[in-house]
Amino acid sequence: MPTALITGPTSGIGLSFARRLAAEGYDVVLVARTESKLSSLAAELGDRYGVEAETITADLAEAADRDRVAARLRDEERPVDLLVNNAGFSTGGHFERNEFSALRSQLEVNVTAVLQLTHAALPGMLARRGGDVINVSSIAGFLPGRGSTYTASKAWVTSFTEGLAAGTRGSGVRLLALCPGFTRTEFHERADIDMSGLPRSFRLDADFVVHESLRDLRRGRAVSVPGNQYKALASVSRLLPRWLVRRVAGRTARGRD
Ligand SMILES: NC(=O)c1ccc[n+]([C@@H]2O[C@H](COP(=O)([O-])OP(=O)(O)OC[C@H]3O[C@@H](n4cnc5c(N)ncnc54)[C@H](OP(=O)(O)O)[C@@H]3O)[C@@H](O)[C@H]2O)c1
Repeated sequence: MPTALITGPTSGIGLSFARRLAAEGYDVVLVARTESKLSSLAAELGDRYGVEAETITADLAEAADRDRVAARLRDEERPVDLLVNNAGFSTGGHFERNEFSALRSQLEVNVTAVLQLTHAALPGMLARRGGDVINVSSIAGFLPGRGSTYTASKAWVTSFTEGLAAGTRGSGVRLLALCPGFTRTEFHERADIDMSGLPRSFRLDADFVVHESLRDLRRGRAVSVPGNQYKALASVSRLLPRWLVRRVAGRTARGRD
């Protein structure tokens, strides 16, 4: 059985990845901070799908915890075939009023963990001439944001993943930047971002996002933008002159990322 390591599987998009991959027959390694949710999810996946489910309780904002997860990825006795760097969050709020420690934690989870865990997983995958990495970015990474620097962290994830996908072409290893738009999860509540005004047609379901990303990965794509409405938005954002993109970004409510 192949093995998938998923960060942030205790809710939202990561939870959908965990259930979908277990249903496909992957053994799973589940990484997040909330031990109780990790163990109940591991029990659920083991019971329902008969897969092995291992848990690692780790705060990816902490270097020592990231090191433990990286060591698991480098363990060639128990190879990981699919890495899903999904854990991430937004501090929300105004850049200048955020505590620096909160902005740094956001950067460590959204960027450093993605860098470090991909770096730990790739050598084994390249040596085995097979393996997949999905880095969960965001449609927000296509646009500058004036708030919390979340969008800048996601622009990095997309660019990093596209670069590696190009550099490893033909190696048997596939990398995908998943760039969802608004998806119903705990994300916005945790960030204290009010999305109640968003039209229904722009609300995505986490299972749909995961389904589209796996389809795009298996078709050999490097970037996945689920949903036609968000595909159109991504295309428009690439075509508009940057001064106009900045002006639109400047008009978005202060406090949003
Ligand atoms: N929802 C959206 O609209 C949307 C859109 C575009 C991109 N995304 C991206 O999708 C990814 C998943 O977000 P989501 O919407 O599913 O959010 P979510 O429901 O809030 O889930 C976030 C997951 O990440 C884990 N996590 C958060 N901080 C962590 C830390 N310091 N260390 C380890 N694990 C941590 C959480 O688990 P614990 O709390 O148990 O640690 C949880 O499992 C994120 O990268 C987000 O940026 C979301």
